[in-house]
Amino acid sequence: MMGLTVFAVTLLCLCFGPVLTLKRLYQLSDLTSTTFAKTFPHNGLMLLYWFTAHVEIDSEDFLTPKDYDPTKGDYGSKTYINRERLLPRIAHNVKDESYYIIGNLKNGAAEFPKYVNQDYYNAYCSLEGDQWINKRDDANRNRDRIIFRLKLLSSGRLRITEVYITQTAVSGLRLNPNLTYEVTPQLLKEIKDIMQHQVAILCPSLKHNEEKAHNMFEDQNLAWFLTLVDYDISRRELCLSNVHCADYAGVGKDCLNHLHCSPGSTEDEFCDWTPVSLRVGTTADGKAAVSWGIPDTKVEEEGLTVALFKNDDSSSALVEKAVDGLTSGSFPTDISLNAGLQVRLVLKGEKQEETLWRGAELDDANRKRPVKIMSTDASMQLFTRDGLAYIRLYVKKSFTNWQNSFPSDWVGYHQAKGGSYVTWVYLNSLVQTTAHKFEGYDVYEHFFNQTITPEASLQLYNAGNRVTTQTIPWDE
Ligand SMILES: *[C@@H]1O[C@H](CO)[C@@H](O)[C@H](O)[C@H]1NC(C)=O
Ligand SMILES: *[C@@H]1O[C@H](CO)[C@@H](O)[C@H](O)[C@H]1NC(C)=O
Repeated sequence: MMGLTVFAVTLLCLCFGPVLTLKRLYQLSDLTSTTFAKTFPHNGLMLLYWFTAHVEIDSEDFLTPKDYDPTKGDYGSKTYINRERLLPRIAHNVKDESYYIIGNLKNGAAEFPKYVNQDYYNAYCSLEGDQWINKRDDANRNRDRIIFRLKLLSSGRLRITEVYITQTAVSGLRLNPNLTYEVTPQLLKEIKDIMQHQVAILCPSLKHNEEKAHNMFEDQNLAWFLTLVDYDISRRELCLSNVHCADYAGVGKDCLNHLHCSPGSTEDEFCDWTPVSLRVGTTADGKAAVSWGIPDTKVEEEGLTVALFKNDDSSSALVEKAVDGLTSGSFPTDISLNAGLQVRLVLKGEKQEETLWRGAELDDANRKRPVKIMSTDASMQLFTRDGLAYIRLYVKKSFTNWQNSFPSDWVGYHQAKGGSYVTWVYLNSLVQTTAHKFEGYDVYEHFFNQTITPEASLQLYNAGNRVTTQTIPWDE
């Protein structure tokens, strides 16, 4: 019986294989007319903007990932098995092509810039019945993805041959076919033009939204892009006004939907859209330092506190401090640096406390990309565990004789800029780790048993003791 069922299901799959032809978006207006990621806390449009900024498009419309390598797992990219057959099938005998998926912010958010991840951390706006309430919208804050088909050329270069934007189901990785679109190079080029400020059509009907968007985003070209594709700026404004507007009456009170009330519209309410900045810095001995920068509108409120948490899932603060009317400041802590650490702005009332804003979680490399070692297929990165320094080396799987290529090169760990190394290791004595499994790379590590400092860096020396490669200082 069991076998029969499996057989029947397989048969069904075979017969009804790829039934859908996905809609293709050729130009900006095609994207505008979809419903893809138009409302807070969806961030698919910001993700698409980021993707476009990080892809090269040549004169023949060939796409190449610009400054990251999906086969190395950069920005949390993973191979995508096209199990649902939503995308065109890649035949089994095609070994040099696969689909990659990017945009899962759970555990992968920290690498992305703020405009991509801030609404994931701060999705405090949910629809309950017909009321908007200040509760985190966990169902929608991490659903948008980009999938692309990657081809490894015989030259060793990578080429992206197809790009899709898509949305996952509320739980799991199933994709919603109704919200999956192929994005053409033409559309990506149009977005690139917006990025380079080559589009400047002032359209009166968009002026109101454009002004709001310009207040909200530091990147004015992103603001313009979101306006043009009809992202719901007013909804985002409403959802975030809690932290940016003084005397804000609350999302749920009189607002059945965003058309009926907007922040800043009542007499004694005013808004300051200065971005909130909540950061984990580093003390001289590898501990977390908390720093904050917050809008004027909130700073006088009683009970306003900055607090450090183990990670985004944690509900009890490791350490906290009242902001005492200061719009910016910082303080050292005794908490060792570790991936996940997060600073939050909390309003502590008599009865309850309310999280106003969450900063990005710290990632173990403090957002520093691995640095390519000369012109080889290897790159190195400084990272931390428990406030101590480690090196991670990524070696392309095809670079099989790498150990012989660096016979006597050694890595110095430096704690101060311009200072000499405090300890060192031969590059080819690093030990392979299986904690990370990537399509295209092997990973090697070494523990330095020295603390991370704000100026910490790695320097690679050749046999003649000349520095050939170095990482940028940790906290720069
Ligand atoms: C997609 O759209 C069709 C037709 O409108 C609908 O029946 C179906 O439930 C939708 N699928 C999802 C996953 O929303
Ligand atoms: C790290 O250094 C400390 C002393 O500074 C020493 O006690 C400890 O054993 C070292 N750990 C390792 C793993 O080498």
